[in-house]
This record gives sequence, structure tokens and C-alpha cells, in this order.
Amino acid sequence: MIVPYELKYRKALIEICWRTGFYGKDLTGTDLFHDKEVFALCFCLHYVEFAPELAYIALDETGKAIGYVLGAADTRAQKASFVSTMLPRIGRHLFFNTFWIDREDYLKMRAWAQSRKRPRLDEEFLLHYPAHLHINLLPGYQGQGHGTALMAKLLEEFKARGVPGVHLGTNSANEKAVPFYKKLGFELLDEKPGDMWGAGGDLKSLVFGKKL
Ligand SMILES: CC(C)(COP(=O)(O)OP(=O)(O)OC[C@H]1O[C@@H](n2cnc3c(N)ncnc32)[C@H](O)[C@@H]1OP(=O)(O)O)[C@@H](O)C(=O)NCCC(=O)NCCS
Repeated sequence: MIVPYELKYRKALIEICWRTGFYGKDLTGTDLFHDKEVFALCFCLHYVEFAPELAYIALDETGKAIGYVLGAADTRAQKASFVSTMLPRIGRHLFFNTFWIDREDYLKMRAWAQSRKRPRLDEEFLLHYPAHLHINLLPGYQGQGHGTALMAKLLEEFKARGVPGVHLGTNSANEKAVPFYKKLGFELLDEKPGDMWGAGGDLKSLVFGKKL
């Protein structure tokens, strides 16, 4: 079942974000990163504060939150809000918590946060694909149609708001997401070398888009 996001799902959101954070795989036990809270501040929590009406949760038959899709209809506005409201929070968290827990985590997230100030797509692309989204399902619940259902719900909401197109970012290392987006009619708009986790190989940061 797909339901609108509510505050009671915040903890689940943080967990799902973490358990899919390593190019779609679980960060638990990888030793790549340790501060779950700052990871969520960077990758998911801003969306439910900025546009809660564009956040949906997938529940299993017991009512457990197993996945989410988070959207921003106007990427430029979301990014401006992220930079002015969330980056300072991330900075404070990094300085007062992460820095003292794990210096490597601190350096990784500081570099990522800085990179967020630069646009992922140029202005021309944003005219055609102004919205963007993030979608993640817990391990064990993938490949069962929940992603397709979450995506359909959000794309319907975007269309109802007159959004002409949507884009998203992923990595060539993500073996599930790339075929998933292609199957749903997303086209590759941009690719450049990108390996946030230093996994090695010829990894690429990919941007996909779909006209609505
Ligand atoms: C990517 C993700 C959202 C897809 O959702 P899902 O519920 O697993 O996908 P669905 O079951 O709706 O599958 C739809 C289509 O996607 C593709 N797909 C899904 N899982 C796949 C896999 N493991 N390998 C190859 N293709 C896959 C298939 O084309 C599938 O169609 P089919 O069932 O007719 O073969 C989900 O697998 C996930 O959360 N993965 C981990 C986190 C992640 O990578 N998020 C995206 C970050 S950019």
C-alpha cells in the first residue's frame, strides 16, 4: 500500500536511506560511513520538510514502512532551500557530532555538501525537467513491484501539478536502479565520472530524465 508521508515515518525514512545508501546497497557493516543521522540530513530529510505533499511511503501488509519516494517539483527552489536551511544544519551536525565520532565521515560529507552547491543539470535541462526525485526500498522488498507503484504515484502528482518533466541522479554501479528507470521510460541525459564511495572501476554519475 502507498500512503502519504507523515512524521511517524521519519525514523523509517532514515533507516531506508541508510540501508540503500551504498549505490543502492546497504551501508550497514560496510565501514564506509558511520553517522546515520547526517546521512539522512543530506539525502532524504530535506524533502519531507520542503514538500511533504510529494513524499510517499510504501507499507507492507503489516503496516511496516518498507520504501519511499521523495519529490521536488521545482528543483531550483528545493536546492535554494537546501542550501539556506539544510546545509547550515548539516554543517552544525558535522562539526558538533560527526567530526568527533569519525573524521573520515566528516571529510566525506563535507566534500559532498560542498558539491551540492553546484547545479547537477544546466538551466536548459531544468526548463524541460524541473522536478526531481529519490526512490528507495529496503533490501528484501525490492523486485516486487513496490518501486513501480511508488513511482506511478509521484509521477501522477507531478502531472497533476503541471510539471513538464522530471530528472534523477544515480550511479552506473547501481545495478537495480539503472534498468528500473529505463523500464519506466527514463532516458539518460548526462553522464560523468563519479564515485562518491571510492569503490573503484570506471564508475559514472548518471542523470536520467522523463517528460511527463
Ligand atoms: C531501484 C528500485 C527503486 C526499483 O524498485 P523495485 O520495486 O525493486 O522494482 P520493480 O519490482 O517495480 O521492477 C520494475 C522493473 O525494474 C527493473 N528491475 C527491478 N529490479 C531489478 C533488478 N534487480 N535487476 C534488473 N532489473 C530490475 C525490471 O525491469 C523490472 O521490471 P520486471 O519486473 O518486468 O522485470 C529498488 O530496487 C530499490 O530501492 N533498490 C535499492 C535502492 C536504489 O537503488 N534506489 C535508487 C537509487 S538511485
